Amino acid sequence: MPHDTHPDVLTVLNSLDTAALPVEAARVLPAEAYMSPAFHEFEMSAVFMHSWLCVGRAQQIPNPGDYIAVTLADEPILVVRGKDEQIRAMSALCRHRGHPLKEDCIGNARTFICPYHKWTYGLAGEFVGAPHMGKTCNAADLKKEAVLPQLQVEIWYGFIFVNFDPQAKPLAPTMKKLEPYMQGYDLDNMVTVEPEVTSRPIQWNWKMLLENYIEPYHTEFVHPIIHDFAPSTGVEFSPWLGDDDNVIVRYVPFLENDGGLTDKGWAAPASFPVIPTLSEKQRHRVGFGMVPPNMNIIFTPDMLCYGLVFPQGPTSLKVGGGLFTAGGWCVPKSTAALPDFHARAARLMEGSRQLGEQDTAINLAMQRAKYSRFAPRGRFSYLEETLSQFNRWLAVRYRAEGARRGIMAGEAAREVAE
Ligand SMILES: [Fe+2]
Repeated sequence: MPHDTHPDVLTVLNSLDTAALPVEAARVLPAEAYMSPAFHEFEMSAVFMHSWLCVGRAQQIPNPGDYIAVTLADEPILVVRGKDEQIRAMSALCRHRGHPLKEDCIGNARTFICPYHKWTYGLAGEFVGAPHMGKTCNAADLKKEAVLPQLQVEIWYGFIFVNFDPQAKPLAPTMKKLEPYMQGYDLDNMVTVEPEVTSRPIQWNWKMLLENYIEPYHTEFVHPIIHDFAPSTGVEFSPWLGDDDNVIVRYVPFLENDGGLTDKGWAAPASFPVIPTLSEKQRHRVGFGMVPPNMNIIFTPDMLCYGLVFPQGPTSLKVGGGLFTAGGWCVPKSTAALPDFHARAARLMEGSRQLGEQDTAINLAMQRAKYSRFAPRGRFSYLEETLSQFNRWLAVRYRAEGARRGIMAGEAAREVAE
């Protein structure tokens, strides 16, 4: 094996035999996966450079020149609607000396001008001009080489996904498991309330946020009373469909129809009017979906709510929407037009705050525990089916990155040793 492979990376790769198994046999990932800087570097390549990443909704950039500037795994990206109405994604770094053209904002532009030396790019990332460069090179060469590197883009139900990997397979076929949940929401005719992104980093590993979000084992213990309306008894999981599956869900029944998140936690009636086109089953449940690595979608009788996850380092992340912060809400136009919309939204966020505070205490303690020499690789409950699915999703990507780097681990390394 290459001698420069960090031991923390090997530790996680060697653990995958027990991480990539059905829930009965799966184990928690080693602690290094949640705090090691070396593993984080490996993981950002393994996972974020080869997966579909949600950056928002096409409704947020309806007109030519509208853009979302977002940072994904330390890469500043521009997502732009061109003059031809096409949505493109590209690196936001100026091809001169690399200053970002825009960072973490949303707006409209006719061109993108680097603030450092005024190099200028068109909406498709093409080079337009640069002051004082005529003396050192010819314009045609510059036009050819100073093009913003492009990412793959796919729009799914109006959600914009990007992928750094030019070879990545299309997203839609990997999202089939979410289709039944999407029925009845009519997203094209709904209004998107933009997610607010946390201004300060949250101090735990990005996977822990998603794990806490997607497992229903803890809810009765960590969220007594305010989660009782959505009990884990009767929760449905969707089976894991294999390496090309991109969806993990838990479908939680309510005690009665037409509930949602309120100032009293999960309760009925929901904060917003119920969407009449939803089925009886949908009106009786909350669906917690996850599109790893950076998106969650919550399906409730009154709205569809999405959240985005932005890792900042091995033990910190930012989040936007998905009930972690306000926004990321897709609601019918009639709901958004209610005179008391903001008062209703505030009630919903009060419930979200209570749930969030309880989960925060747990996540902080869990992050500290990852530094213990006794950090366990424990077994999962059947209510943590979603965690074994997430581990399998991760294992596929960790192994692929290991193979790209020529790292021999797990079974392969043992075979060579024998
Ligand atoms: Fe929780």
